[in-house]
Order: sequence, then C-alpha cells, then structure tokens
Amino acid sequence: MENRYGSFSGTADAFWYDTEGKLIQAHGGQVQKFVINGREKWYWIGEDKTYGYRPCSGIRMYSSDDLYNWKDEGIVLRTMGSVDEFEDEYFKILYGTLSLEEKEAIFTDLDKNNCVIERPKMLYNEKTGKYVVWFHADGRFPGCSGDYDKAKAGVAVSDSPKGPFRLLGSYKLNYHNDPNGEYGFDGWEKRGSVRDLNLFLDRDKTAYVIYSSEGNRTTFISKLNEEYTNLAADRDKAVEGKDFTRNFIGEFREAHAMFFYRDKYYLMNSGCTAWSPNPARYAVADHPLGPWTEMGNPCIEEGRETTYGTQSTCIIVVDEEKGICIYMGDRWREEDLGKSGYVWLPLVFGPKYGMALKKEENWSYE
Ligand code: GAL
Repeated sequence: MENRYGSFSGTADAFWYDTEGKLIQAHGGQVQKFVINGREKWYWIGEDKTYGYRPCSGIRMYSSDDLYNWKDEGIVLRTMGSVDEFEDEYFKILYGTLSLEEKEAIFTDLDKNNCVIERPKMLYNEKTGKYVVWFHADGRFPGCSGDYDKAKAGVAVSDSPKGPFRLLGSYKLNYHNDPNGEYGFDGWEKRGSVRDLNLFLDRDKTAYVIYSSEGNRTTFISKLNEEYTNLAADRDKAVEGKDFTRNFIGEFREAHAMFFYRDKYYLMNSGCTAWSPNPARYAVADHPLGPWTEMGNPCIEEGRETTYGTQSTCIIVVDEEKGICIYMGDRWREEDLGKSGYVWLPLVFGPKYGMALKKEENWSYE
C-alpha cells in the first residue's frame, strides 16, 4: 500500500485520494477503530457521491493504519436500479428469503434513482458479533415526490465492517406524545420523523441514536436495543426522559456528533441551512440522554460563523490520554456534491469543559 500522505490538508481542503489514486467518497461519514483478528485499523464509512446527488450509489468504506492514507474497501451497502435485481446473486444472498412485499419495501429505500442515503454511521455489537449501520433513509417513492418527506432511519447489518450490509428496514423513531404540540413542518402526522442522525456507543455498551426530528426543530436522543438494530422501547410505549429525550427544542440543530472525553459527554452540531455552512454549537452533559448544558460556538478563529466553511459529521477521539481529538467536517459543494471536501481539524480542550475547534492547514496529529 502506497503511503502518500503524512498530514491532513484541513481548511486548505485539497482533494483527498485513496491509496489507488481515486477521490475518496465517504461524505457525511464516521471514523472509528476496530480490532479484527488481532489487527487494529481505522474504518471510515460514508456516503458515496460518485454520481453527485443521484443516482445514489450507496455507502462506501475505507480502512487505514494512520488516518491519513485510506484504502477503498468498496460499496458496503448497495443500491439497486429495479426490483429485478433481487434475482442477482449479490442481492439473492441478502434478501432471497423475503416475500415480494418485503422486497418492495426494501427497494423503496435502496432505489438508486429515487432514494436518499445520508450520514451513515456504524457500530459493532459485541453480543451479536454484527456490525450495524444506521443512516438517514429518505427520498421519493410512488405517491411522494419530495426528497426529505419520508424522514426515516435505515438500519442494516453485516458480519464485517466491509459488508455486504443487509438492510433490515427503515423506521420512524420516538415522538413527543402530545397531538397538540409544535412539530414544525412535520406536524403530528409525521411524528417520529428522522433526518440528520448519528450514533453513540457508551462505555457500558449502551448505544444511542441522535437525530433531528419535529421538522428539524428538536434533537432527539434515543436508547437502542441490545442488538443496536432498533429502539430500546417500542415507540408507542416509550417513556420520554427514560427511553429518549428531546433536546435544544425549537433550535433547529443537525449534523450531530457525540463523543465522550475524559469525564464528560460532548455533543456538537450545526444549524439547519441545507448544504451551506453555519455556526457550529456544542453542549456538555454527564449522561448521553442529557440534560445538556449549551457551551456556544467552539470555533475561535476567523471564519467561526461558518465553522470554517464546514458542517460536522463525527469527532474521532484518537488518544484520550494525550488529548488528541479530530473534528471531521464536510465542506459541501452543492453544484458538484461528489467533489465536496473533507476538512479535518484539531479539537483542543481547556478548563471547565471548554472546547475549541482550531483552523489548521496541512497539520499532523502526532
Ligand atoms: C443538510 C444535511 C445534509 C443534507 C442536506 C440536504 O442540512 O446536514 O445531510 O441532508 O441538508 O439539503
């Protein structure tokens, strides 16, 4: 494997190529470390935007030893052009036992000419030995022409981070049980809607999904079941405050990234301005469900009102002891989404849980 990079371009935002010289396609992504067969590696999962917004080619995976040089591991969740493709060997192995009706439901979420697959995130479940991917499942389907009306969470599983991932389904999640509440453009009818989402795995192996809901007005944090494949509690019986919480109500936050550092939980996110960048914010808590104390904008240098032209997607805690944390931001290029940039920057911590996102070009974390 050819190691060409020894630094991150940061806000210089140079095109980032994989070890074969192809542009990396892992937008809205997440990086984490797994030890597989005794071998420790970093894994980067993200949106493949080779063809721009659509056709949607699915979710791609890369692996690395040093966070700078990434090997393409291919598309790990594949989309399809028509239901006929369920007859192809690849899809037969994954979905062969499903009924026609079930296949049609899967097709709605994987239809490359109509679906939207955004912000994929992955967890490893120690109990089941499976890798679980969650993503924002949206897009058009018969009777719905909007790209963001479906607003569900897609969940897929595999025996390997390199896939192939099998889609289990797509779901509406928790909702505030008051038909007369204020739920923005979703209204009560579309309760449980999910748009930008992320996952968080706590030290006790409890996992959470963090997502924008109620017409993006509110940030929900919901506990997952033991397999990480669905909510911990049936959404019609779930108890607000115990199974899930509603946070930053009416503040329109998205692009959530949660992490644990030293003795606090941190949650960073952005405002809702589509592909255009806006000021980031962060909050700290003593529990993943909150309550969250708002800390303001972590950016300290020029360009802070646009998060240096980026939107958060993940924070990598590289080395807690040494205090090495990396912010992964997307610099979306709406006119050519496949060429959107990856702006990775250092996060530094001060007293009283203060956190600062630094503006840095061509920097190394070691
Ligand atoms: C952003 C969101 C992206 C994508 C985009 C579509 O606000 O963070 O993931 O959904 O809107 O306009």
